[in-house]
Amino acid sequence: MTANALDLVVRNARVATASDTFDCDIGIRNGRVALLGEGLPAGTREIDAAGRTVTPGGVDAHCHLDQPMEGPVKMADDFLTGTRSAACGGTTTVIPFAAQMKGQSLEAAVVDYHGRAEGKACIDYAFHLIVSDPTPQVLATELPRLISQGYTSFKVYMTYDDLKLDDGQILDVLDVARTHGALAMVHAENADCIEWLTKRLEAAGRTAPRWHAHARPMLVEREATHRAIALSELVDVPILIVHVSGREAIEQIRWARAHGLSVFAETCPQYLFLTAEDLGIDDSYQGARCVCSPPPRDKANQEIIWDGLGDGLFTVFSSDHAPFRYDDPQGKKPGGEEVPFRHIPNGIPGLETRLPLLYSEGVLGGRITLQKFVELTATNPAKAYGLHPRKGTIAVGSDADLVVWDERALAIDNRRLHHAVDYTPYEGMQLKAWPGLTLSRGEVVWDGTSFTGQAGRGKFLPCGTPSLLPKRT
Ligand code: URP
Ligand code: ZN
Ligand code: ZN
Repeated sequence: MTANALDLVVRNARVATASDTFDCDIGIRNGRVALLGEGLPAGTREIDAAGRTVTPGGVDAHCHLDQPMEGPVKMADDFLTGTRSAACGGTTTVIPFAAQMKGQSLEAAVVDYHGRAEGKACIDYAFHLIVSDPTPQVLATELPRLISQGYTSFKVYMTYDDLKLDDGQILDVLDVARTHGALAMVHAENADCIEWLTKRLEAAGRTAPRWHAHARPMLVEREATHRAIALSELVDVPILIVHVSGREAIEQIRWARAHGLSVFAETCPQYLFLTAEDLGIDDSYQGARCVCSPPPRDKANQEIIWDGLGDGLFTVFSSDHAPFRYDDPQGKKPGGEEVPFRHIPNGIPGLETRLPLLYSEGVLGGRITLQKFVELTATNPAKAYGLHPRKGTIAVGSDADLVVWDERALAIDNRRLHHAVDYTPYEGMQLKAWPGLTLSRGEVVWDGTSFTGQAGRGKFLPCGTPSLLPKRT
């Protein structure tokens, strides 16, 4: 065997990138794409992809894995089950959150989070930070040092008592992002309005899961989105609004863009495929499964989200996987109780179903192009968070992270998913495709039937400068 021999050739692929679709063989050596072309020499191993579309492995830039919670609640997925599930759904890179607890050093949160990932992650991973306690030490020393070490994005919350920052604190954090070249992600919901509405609902005895959506109407997202935009304008730094749910927040983002502001946006499958009715049409507790924030809206808003995916309003499409089991005292029934909606852990699982849902309904359903699919699910998240071109594309020199698609009818069935959650909100949904193979750095980690990767093979990826930031001299 010569030194230049290929380890693997994926033959006759219909390769899709964010810009083109072309037919070729993909030659892989040492975990990277070494050659793209017709009639490549034989590899040590060969995979025939004739007639099948091959896309870059997905980059899920918003998911929560093994994030410490206040007891008795505990996330169902750790780095093993979460990344296994991601791989089986075509995702080859995840960017979960190292979350600072109030009173904790941010660097300590990062050390803790590395410990949670090491030896468990089956695919490559980077970390965003969650800044919940921007002390002078964090702002002046820890955050700049962490940015220089490859943690170049962080999330700030405008809601949730244990995480939220006030406007002055957000300005301080945005200022650090501007000075040191990081990207701030914002969870935009008005905490005071939510609390006021929640108290009124509770006083009226309206505590079933469905009232969660009434406590967080679009207005509270609209107001906070506009405020976040104003704060970013004041500091003169781009921001990315995460998990945008519908028309009112979108209108604010379009307004910002029309005024020349750098405001980017993310949306998630729950805003395309669920509505507030999934939280319940009566007082049944079943709807706790779909309690997430912001809540899903209605069919008309789903259409508006589809429009935004097609026309460039959205930069990234992420899962916001936040895994809590339904029938579990550590999950949606804390302590084993059916609790008022205020106490239901927020979030739904979605790492494994993100790509198949968008490929089936978006690409094969004729709503978005294949190029747009690749852009939203892989290329843009890799660029936005400083991982491109190593991740997010199929190009010579990139990691050989690939998805070979099987186009066939199937129904989503939680028993076939690989997360540790006891439900999926998308149970029974008819799909037109699922990954037939997922390759991570040239290794098959999902063969269409079974998970074939290994715990601990995933590598930590320090992130470079997010490409959405302006070049400052
Ligand atoms: O309900 C949600 N989205 N849970 C996850 C945490 C967050 O705010 O993203
Ligand atoms: Zn959030
Ligand atoms: Zn989230």
